[in-house]
Order: sequence, then C-alpha cells, then structure tokens
Amino acid sequence: MHTTVGIVGGGPSGLLLARLLHLAGVDSVVLESRDRSYVERRQRAGILEQATVDALRAAGAGARLDAEGLPHDGIELRFAGRAHRVDLPGSADGRRVWVYAQTEVVKDLVALQRAEGGPLLFEAEVRAVEGADTGRPVIHYTHEGREQTLTCDYVVGCDGFHGVTRTAVPAGARTTYERTYPYSWLGILAEAPPVYDELIYAHSERGFALASMRSPAVSRLYLQVPNGTDPADWSDGRIWDELDARLALHAEPGWRLKRGPVVQKSVLPMRSAVTEPMRWGRVLLAGDAAHIVPPTGAKGLNLAAADVVVLARALAHRASTGSDELLDAYSDTCLRRVWRAEHFSNFMTTTLHTDPGQSPFDTRLQLSQLERIASSPHAGAELAENYVGLPLEPR
Ligand code: APR
Ligand code: PHB
Repeated sequence: MHTTVGIVGGGPSGLLLARLLHLAGVDSVVLESRDRSYVERRQRAGILEQATVDALRAAGAGARLDAEGLPHDGIELRFAGRAHRVDLPGSADGRRVWVYAQTEVVKDLVALQRAEGGPLLFEAEVRAVEGADTGRPVIHYTHEGREQTLTCDYVVGCDGFHGVTRTAVPAGARTTYERTYPYSWLGILAEAPPVYDELIYAHSERGFALASMRSPAVSRLYLQVPNGTDPADWSDGRIWDELDARLALHAEPGWRLKRGPVVQKSVLPMRSAVTEPMRWGRVLLAGDAAHIVPPTGAKGLNLAAADVVVLARALAHRASTGSDELLDAYSDTCLRRVWRAEHFSNFMTTTLHTDPGQSPFDTRLQLSQLERIASSPHAGAELAENYVGLPLEPR
C-alpha cells in the first residue's frame, strides 16, 4: 500500500490532520494501535482555545461543539482564602475558551473520517518507521495478525509521548528537553453539577485543586497528590472532603461542594518535554509525540491542533506547488508557540502547586505573584492572553 501522508496515531492530532488533508485533496492513511471505543473514551483534556475552535469549525467539525460546548469568558483563581476572576476576552482581543472534552472532539473527527475521509485503521500497531532520510519512508505495522508495510511520501508521528515515530529520527539528530514535577494529579469525573460557573484554579496550603466540568451535570475535578499515589487509597469521601478544604473561601464558612457518584478516577503524572527538531527529512512529529506540558495551563490539546493546522497547510502547499518552503519552516514555526506554552504551563504549575520541598519563603513568593495577577490589569492580561492562546497566524 502507498499513500501521500502516512499518519501514525489516531488521537486528536492524527485525526484532525487527516481531516484537514482530506479537505485539501491530499490522501492519507491513519494507523491507530487501539480500538475505536478505547480512543473515544480515553479521559483527557477539556478546554479548547479560540484558535482550536476556529480550526475545528473550518474543518467541518464544529456542529456539536457549537451546540454542546460551553463558552467561558473567565477563570477564577482562589488563594489565601479569597477569589479573583481573570477576564479573558477583555484582555485578549475578544478571544475566549470552550469547555468541550477531548473525547467529544475525537468522536466528531472519527465520525467525519469514517463518513468522508480516507482509511482510518484501528488496532493497527506501528512497529517501526524507516527511511526518514529517503524519498519514500516506510511504516511497518501489524493489523489483523499480519505484518504490513505502508510506503509514504511523508510520515507524520501523531503517536503521543510514548510513540515510536520519534525514534525514526537518528538519536544524534534530536534533542529532548524535559522536566518532571514532584507531584501528580488525582482526577475524577463525577455526576455532580459544576462547583461554579467558571473553572476554579485553587492554591492552598494543602496543595493545588482544580474544579472543571464536562456539562451542566458532570464535574471534572483534580487534586494535587504525591507522585506514586494509588487512586485506590482515595475513597470518594476522602476526595470530596479534600476538595471542600482546598476550594474553601474565608467568606463562606461551612461551604461544601454538591457531591455525586464518582464515575472515573485516575492519577496523572506531571511532565514537560519538547523534542527538537519536529522534522527530520520526510518524517514529521506533531502533538504529544513532539511535546508535552503539565495540564495546569490546559495547553496540550491546543498545541496539538495548532501543529497540525500548520502542517496540513505545509503538506498541501507541497502537493499543489512542489515547494518545500512551508515544510522547511514547520519545526521553527511550531516551536515558537510550543515554547511559549511550555513556559506558561510551567508558570501555572509552579505558581499554584505546593512543592514537597517548599519553604514558607517560596509560598510567600507564590502568594505575591497571585496577588499581583489579582491587582494589576497588566499581570491579569498576561495570564489571560496566554490562557486563551495565540491566534494561528496564516503562513
Ligand atoms: N502505532 C499506532 N498508534 C499508536 C502507536 C503505535 N505504535 N503509539 C501510540 N499510538 C496512538 C495512541 O494509541 C493514541 O491514540 O497514538 C495516539 C496518540 O494520541 P494522543 O496521546 O492523544 O496524542 P495527540 O493526538 O498528539 O493529542 C494530544 O492528548 O495527551 C493529550 O493532553 C494531550 O490533549 C493533548 C492531546
Ligand atoms: C479539564 O477540564 O480536564 C481541565 C481543565 C483545565 C485544565 C486542565 C484540565 O487546566
């Protein structure tokens, strides 16, 4: 089998890339190791930046997002027992964010691909990608118990942080910059109404907490926990008590969250990593395959979408003109946005979490930073602009 663009991984990056290429008249094949229901149910991020929403709409994947997504014009910061609202559109040229789960983005894109697009193979596990520096790279994969090969003009690794495509770039030609954090998140999905109209990011002496949502009836809640935490050690009652304690405001003594059945519970590690460059010969990396962020800034899914918008444009340009100009610029174009998001995600993470080795001095610095955001329109606008994300400038 041969295709123009072989896409390894059918997560949000691989699926959106395939859709954008289809609309541009470029053929592709998506190879995804998991089955469809696993990919559609995997709990991940839930916040879409304005540019991501615009890209999904332009891709024809905006109908359910427009009907069911929840637009948000602010976030709430809680610290020292008080609350501060960060206004988003007022500080970011009218741009806002949407609550719409990654599971739903994936379902919408899978349905479109199945209805109109090229091949999307589930349970097709890629073993190796070879020939990055040749004119015809090859993907070796297993499907329905048989070893298969797919030759391509280009291979795009959309296979996430643990993907294999990255290793097609010789070790001496790539550098990974990374940091791990000394804490994790315990995340739950609960059949309980959201705590508040907006997302709450809470700094507390007991550790960070985040109150998010999936719908008017379903909450998504997170607690900072030590690395190595076993979710089984956290009973539902213990989780709700801890959320009550970390999200409390001095002005509302005795306040409690509305509780409901916990339908999903898991522990997520916190990491930052960037692999450079994002292109080597005819192999390109996009989304989590090239970079990951700790989830505090809600950037992972949005960076993935931004990468593939830039890449689809570059591959379509190459197909219609024969010019490599945009492909040559792909890595640098994406890395500018990636490093901005890496910085912002690290800033949000280290400002809001309690490091196990943290001194009272460090805590005072965090509180001073939060106080600055709450009292200076400039500092507030800096956060808002980063949170809603940069516009996708046309190239
Ligand atoms: N062969 C085929 N598919 C693979 C292989 C392989 N060897 N290895 C990984 N995959 C698949 C995974 O099963 C997964 O479906 O690649 C996909 C990668 O998807 P994601 O990890 O979701 O990465 P990406 O599409 O870049 O989306 C980034 O996901 O982790 C979140 O916060 C992150 O929201 C961001 C988004
Ligand atoms: C989520 O809803 O899953 C979510 C929201 C905001 C974040 C991270 C995750 O910063």
